[in-house]
Amino acid sequence: MENQLKLSKPEHGLNGELQVPGDKSISHRAVMFGSVAEGKTTIRNFLMGEDCLSTISCFRKLGVKIDINADEVTVEGNGWDSLSEPSEVLDTGNSGTTTRLMMGLLSGRPFHSVMLGDESIAKRPMKRVTDPLKLFGTAIDGRDEANFTPLSIRGGNLKAIRYKLPVASAQVKSAILLAGLQADGVTEVVEPQRTRDHTEKMIVEFGGEVERVEDTIKVRGGQVLRGAKVYVPGDISSAAFFMTAAAIVPNSSITLKNVGLNETRTGIVEVMKKMGARMEVTERPGSGERIGDIMVETSELQGTEIGGDLIPALIDEIPVIALLATQAEGTTIIKDAEELKVKETNRIDAVVQELKKLGADIEATDDGMIIKGKKSLQGAEVHSWGDHRIGMTLAVASLITESPVYLENADAIKISYPNFFEDLGKLVE
Ligand code: S3P
Repeated sequence: MENQLKLSKPEHGLNGELQVPGDKSISHRAVMFGSVAEGKTTIRNFLMGEDCLSTISCFRKLGVKIDINADEVTVEGNGWDSLSEPSEVLDTGNSGTTTRLMMGLLSGRPFHSVMLGDESIAKRPMKRVTDPLKLFGTAIDGRDEANFTPLSIRGGNLKAIRYKLPVASAQVKSAILLAGLQADGVTEVVEPQRTRDHTEKMIVEFGGEVERVEDTIKVRGGQVLRGAKVYVPGDISSAAFFMTAAAIVPNSSITLKNVGLNETRTGIVEVMKKMGARMEVTERPGSGERIGDIMVETSELQGTEIGGDLIPALIDEIPVIALLATQAEGTTIIKDAEELKVKETNRIDAVVQELKKLGADIEATDDGMIIKGKKSLQGAEVHSWGDHRIGMTLAVASLITESPVYLENADAIKISYPNFFEDLGKLVE
């Protein structure tokens, strides 16, 4: 079978230290802000995954000079006017963050551009972004009344808006803030639930101002941003796969170094602790994004209920949390997570169907899933659905199956973790 990997469980446990790659959300934003800031931006520990490389390639097509040297990226920004009308379509690949945030940014630019991604992007809803951008005054169109790619934008002359987000989404909030930074007046975004705040933090890191009053974020238009030196912490969403692996593989102890601990992202730590995981988080003091080490050992786990305001803080970790729940005593209920249906794949269907093939007791619900544990898993032929996080969830599952797992389209993992299997290899004794 093309692009199929045979994965088997390790003879002993998983042990050692690992530095997971840079945070995907922060890497995208650092390139975007660097491109429109005045002066040079250097980004260390940039995630060289396919999604973030799509962002670099789009901004190069917009005329920005961006150099890559090992894991360091240098962006030569020249203010908002450094972007020029692209002569080619902007290919956003598999990346929702590139597509949505760039739409916000381009809606303030007085030129025409067209965005197109892959088959998965073509199915993801964009009206949630194009609706508020139209209110700013941007001319934006696309398939099905600007709900799907390809999308075309002619920006410029924005008027600030006040907008209440109908769904909790950091991508939509960020698109609005990026447009708001270029609009006339003060833009306000109201969040129904708190979502990741990397954009707000980065506005400040690049010398701008943004204010949060309860659930409202306010940004003034016409601000000049200045180039910055950005260090990208390890991605907790990537660390999550090894945190889970350590908890479920016998005789394991793993320390993940320099992981981002932004409180809008650490829902998985809260859930694992509640499930009884043996773990320790050691935060190091510093400014900007929070950072520290996470140690996890083989654990006796209990089922739990996950929902409400916690969901945005662990939305990308739900596939691997579902696997964790198969190894917990009792029932785990995941609810209020209908957003999973519009990620890179329908992640409720993908997780339920693939984990069932391995013998898990898991059922889909309208807004999540119900998992009954503890179940021993067996090998089978499974599929990543072209979704990096489904691929890694199944690779971690193979560490506890009695017989080998055959994972189809394992290549999808390169979207966010190009060296995933090399890193896993370092932990196998
Ligand atoms: C992201 C926000 C989340 C997350 C995605 C990255 C971001 O999506 O699932 O992987 O970088 O802003 P939503 O904004 O759609 O919730």
